[in-house]
Amino acid sequence: MNSPDAIAHASARVSVIGAGNVGSTLAQRIAEKNLADVVLLDVVAGRPQGVALDLMEARGIEGHNRQIIGTVDYADTADSNIVVITAGLPRKPGMSRDDLMRTNANIVVEATRMAIAHSPNALLVLVTNPLDVITYLSWKASGRPAHQVMGMAGILDSARFQTFIALELGVSPADVSAMVLGSHGDLMVPLPRYSTVSGIPITELLDAATIERLIERTRNGGAEVVELMQTGGAYYAPASSTCRMIEAMLLNQSRLLPVASYLQGEYGLQDIFIGVPARLGKSGIESVLELDLTDAEREALHSSAKSVRQKNAQALEMLKESL
Ligand code: NAI
Ligand code: 2OP
Repeated sequence: MNSPDAIAHASARVSVIGAGNVGSTLAQRIAEKNLADVVLLDVVAGRPQGVALDLMEARGIEGHNRQIIGTVDYADTADSNIVVITAGLPRKPGMSRDDLMRTNANIVVEATRMAIAHSPNALLVLVTNPLDVITYLSWKASGRPAHQVMGMAGILDSARFQTFIALELGVSPADVSAMVLGSHGDLMVPLPRYSTVSGIPITELLDAATIERLIERTRNGGAEVVELMQTGGAYYAPASSTCRMIEAMLLNQSRLLPVASYLQGEYGLQDIFIGVPARLGKSGIESVLELDLTDAEREALHSSAKSVRQKNAQALEMLKESL
């Protein structure tokens, strides 16, 4: 499946900004799949260096020879093929959603500018929440063509839907293909008509009430993990989802994946990043696939987009001095 045009594999380099749970697990996935060398950067000195050393010490056992560098200095990220931004703060007591948005937006805008200054040709993958808004702001701050900037969420939301379908039917998740579009949050748009088990739409296998229950669980997927863990959010499935995007681009696989992509008229939407099926290859988003949606599905996607658009406008207003 690797195209001959894949990014020179041996020398590929991915920088991960934010060495927290998602960033560190992503670094591990990338190195252990032998996809690229990894630079892990965080604002907290010691954390990225410690994680990098720990991952390096696992190399002999895991059987790869990838370099993992931990740093607080953006100069060390120079010439990355891909930069992934996972940096951000969790919501703290007394902090409103707007405060969190302002804090994470400032962190990501600064990280984008610093990373792009050292890797002017890098593809940018955003993970920090609120995902669709953060991706839009990072694109604005980056000055990069929109197809080189994208957000990770749809693969994760689809993987959760896939998991719940597989559990319900007692089949292997490998036989389930699920599709979730829209924004990352309560207004995401799971599409049962385009979710299948070995090619059979789930609408043929499950009744409407069961499908609705699985959709609700998918919408609540992030919160369900937080509720169980109490001390943070999901990171294994988010790291796997982000790694899938990186693999598709580094190996020029032309994979069709749900990705927060910039729309310019597709689905009747303009000037917004939101989850849609996109073909990912070595130049980033190579094309967006426009699915034939029913009126109800299209309305759900447009409601999702309306909420993202409002938050984009608020965020641009908040950052008007710096963007
Ligand atoms: P975490 O709290 O474990 O890690 C965040 C890291 O960012 C910390 O190590 C922190 O020191 C670092 N950081 C803060 N400011 C920074 C700066 N200015 N420069 C560099 N690093 C900085 O959080 P976790 O669990 O890794 O999640 C990271 C982000 O990803 C959160 O915003 C979370 O909501 C989001 N997320 C998004 C998902 C998605 O589907 N898009 C899925 C899972 C998480
Ligand atoms: C998740 O869906 C919180 O975005 C994070 O797990």
